[in-house]
Amino acid sequence: MPELRTERLLLRAWRESDVEPWAALNADPEVREHFPDLLTRERSREAMTRYQADLDRRGWGWWAVEARATGEFVGVAGLGPVDEGTPVDGVQTGWRLARSAWGHGYATEAARAAVAFGFDTLHLPEIVAVTTAGNLRSRAVMRRLGMTHDPAHDFDDPAVPEGPLRRNVVYRLRADAWRTE
Ligand SMILES: CC(C)(COP(=O)(O)OP(=O)(O)OC[C@H]1O[C@@H](n2cnc3c(N)ncnc32)[C@H](O)[C@@H]1OP(=O)(O)O)[C@@H](O)C(=O)NCCC(=O)NCCS
Repeated sequence: MPELRTERLLLRAWRESDVEPWAALNADPEVREHFPDLLTRERSREAMTRYQADLDRRGWGWWAVEARATGEFVGVAGLGPVDEGTPVDGVQTGWRLARSAWGHGYATEAARAAVAFGFDTLHLPEIVAVTTAGNLRSRAVMRRLGMTHDPAHDFDDPAVPEGPLRRNVVYRLRADAWRTE
């Protein structure tokens, strides 16, 4: 399974020692502000097991992200098929970091490596990203990656109750646009 290395980060396989910081991140109301719920430790572990199984099977997916200088686990970033029910097809990129790891450019740096892998190794024609309309920090990462908002495909998630978390926005990045950046 390929690991992705950037100047400051390592996108790598999940380890048993990631469980604690990963569960803490998913139980942090600030990190989960734009999600409908907090995750229990059990659900965090299930997600981590699923991510690793996908990485083993496909060789790409949702990698654990580590700060190379300290070896500290800081979150998740990578690529995956768009969620069922999303009105766009293909592969999406995404990220979720511990609150202490925000504000360093880590999400953008990790996502750049994942997107480069998607275009250069997987030869994807396009990568999309989806977030709730109010998730301005995530939308800023999308813009920093050179992604373009596609308002025609914004949608209401029927699985989410009426309210601010229901509206989702779609961003796109085509391989040719990425290469000419
Ligand atoms: C979305 C999320 C990953 C964004 O994290 P982030 O740290 O804001 O994003 P970046 O990694 O691009 O970092 C950019 C910030 O780092 C700062 N920064 C500091 N040092 C930097 C450096 N060396 N290089 C680049 N940026 C740097 C930038 O100035 C910017 O700061 P600002 O937010 O004050 O403008 C984070 O808020 C998060 O995990 N949220 C919860 C989970 C979530 O909602 N995920 C998305 C679901 S779709």
